[in-house]
Order: sequence, then C-alpha cells, then structure tokens
Amino acid sequence: MDYKNVSLKKEDGIALITIERPKALNALNYETLKELECLLNSARNDEEIKAVIITGGGEKAFVAGADIAEMSKMTPVEAKKFSEFGQHVFREIELLSKPVIAAVNGFALGGGCELSMACDIRIASKNAKFGQPEVGLGIIPGFSGTQRLPRLVGTSKAKELIFTGDMINAEEAYNIGLVSKVVEQSELINEAKKIAQKIMSKGQLAIKLAKEAINKGIETDIDTGNTIEADAFALCFSTNDQKEGMGAFLEKRTPKFEGK
Ligand code: CAA
Repeated sequence: MDYKNVSLKKEDGIALITIERPKALNALNYETLKELECLLNSARNDEEIKAVIITGGGEKAFVAGADIAEMSKMTPVEAKKFSEFGQHVFREIELLSKPVIAAVNGFALGGGCELSMACDIRIASKNAKFGQPEVGLGIIPGFSGTQRLPRLVGTSKAKELIFTGDMINAEEAYNIGLVSKVVEQSELINEAKKIAQKIMSKGQLAIKLAKEAINKGIETDIDTGNTIEADAFALCFSTNDQKEGMGAFLEKRTPKFEGK
C-alpha cells in the first residue's frame, strides 16, 4: 500500500510512525486513519519492531483533530461510522502488544489529543498544546475522548476541558498527569527513543503482560484486577526471560532477555 498521509521509519527495533498532512496540520481524515490502521498492522506483525513512537510531521502540530472539512458534510449515519472507525484504530494502538509512545510535538487537539491518549506513554515538547475543542464545533469528542480523558485525569478536570474546549499547554498537561515528560522540541524524538530503548532492554514478555494487566485491570474492580495480575504474574514464570532476569540478578550480571 502507498501511504500519502503517514510514514513508518524502522530503526533499531523502534518504528517511528509520523502523521503527515501538513496542509491540514496533520488532521485525521478517513484516508489517514485507514493508513494508520495499516501501519499498525505492519508494526504488530513485524517481529523486529519492539516499540512504536507516534508523532506529527513538521514543528507545529502533532494532530490538530479529526478533519473538520470532511466531517462538515457527514450525515449522522456517516458520523457514527467515522467515530467507530477512529475508536477502532485507536483501540488497536491501546491493544498493541508492544509499547507505544506519543511524542507530542505541537497541537494535539480533538482527535489528536485522543490519539495521544490511546498511546501507553505521552511525552511533549514545550510548544505542545492539548485540548478537546469539539463543543465549539457543536459536537463532542468522537474518538474516545469522553472515555479516556476522565480515566487519565479524573472526571472533574476532563469535564472542565471538554465543556470549555480550553487548550492547555505542555506544562499544565504535565501538572494534570496527561503527559509524563516535557522536553525541548529538538530533543523530543531522542527522548522518546531513549524511553523506548530503556523499555526494550527489559523482558519483552513482561512488558506485554504488564500492559495487558494494566489495560484490563483499569476497566474492572480491584479483586478482578488482582486476579488478572496474579494470572499474568504466574505466566511470567513460564518464560525464559524470568529465569534469565532472576538468574542474572543472583549472579550479579546484566540480563540478556530474548523475549521468550
Ligand atoms: N481539520 C481540517 N483542517 C484543519 C484542522 C482540522 N482539524 N485544523 C487545522 N486545519 C487546517 C486549517 O483549515 C488551515 O487550512 P488552510 O490553510 O487551507 O486555511 C491549516 O490547517 C492551518 O490552520 P490555521 O490557519 O487555522 O492555523 P493557526 O495556527 O491559525 O491555528 C489551530 C491552529 C489552533 C490548531 C487551528 O487550526 C484550529 O483550531 N484547528 C481546529 C482544531 C479543532 O477544532 N480540532 C478538533 C476537531 S473535531 C474532532 O477532532 C472530533 C473528534 O474527536 C473525532
């Protein structure tokens, strides 16, 4: 498949996915979402890829939202399909069995903020701006913003952001726990790669199981969550990585994980 609006660069086990629609500040139209879905499939099936970074092309925007020009002509039925498709693609990110880092390099509004929230970890450049401005367009967030924002920052702050449509800067996003690090724009991709490399140096099966346990556990009560955790914990003990990790500790050497 030829990609018009996205690109994937593979380097040292890391897939760098870039959303590139400069004329619309990387806004997500249907075609871009479709291409993103295909790249995620490639990342999933490529065993050499151990971690994914998602960013926006250029220096101004991560993603400025879903494409307003495209949405302006939609019927309710088409809007529902568009919403469900965006939700599906972002859920694929959340369910990817590899860590995904959003490197937010500018405007992350509407669908852009929602894209970043589907990633496991968000880091931002100092010029990044986050927001869910949909109510200003007479609509609500449609790519899971009403669901993920309250889970990440709490209901009260999520309602404030969604009801007012206010944009917040990177520092405030950090203060409310929406991003875990703020760096200079020139350092953003390097920083994302450093985090990815650190994660990749650990037991990959453990990372996969930890991601699953967190994702499933957050949706349930503590007792069910504890069962999910104990099952995943037990599963770790069937892996070579557990034997290597604990053996290396006891032998006072650095572990060599194989993801097996
Ligand atoms: N959709 C389509 N085009 C967009 C866009 C979007 N979300 N965001 C920006 N663009 C286009 C602009 O129309 C403009 O195109 P032209 O040059 O052809 O006029 C170009 O990108 C540059 O944008 P601006 O001239 O507006 O740039 P600016 O620096 O003055 O402002 C901005 C930047 C504050 C991000 C402003 O572009 C903006 O407010 N964009 C819309 C943000 C938004 O409302 N996002 C939510 C969309 S709804 C959504 O996402 C629903 C959902 O949950 C699924």
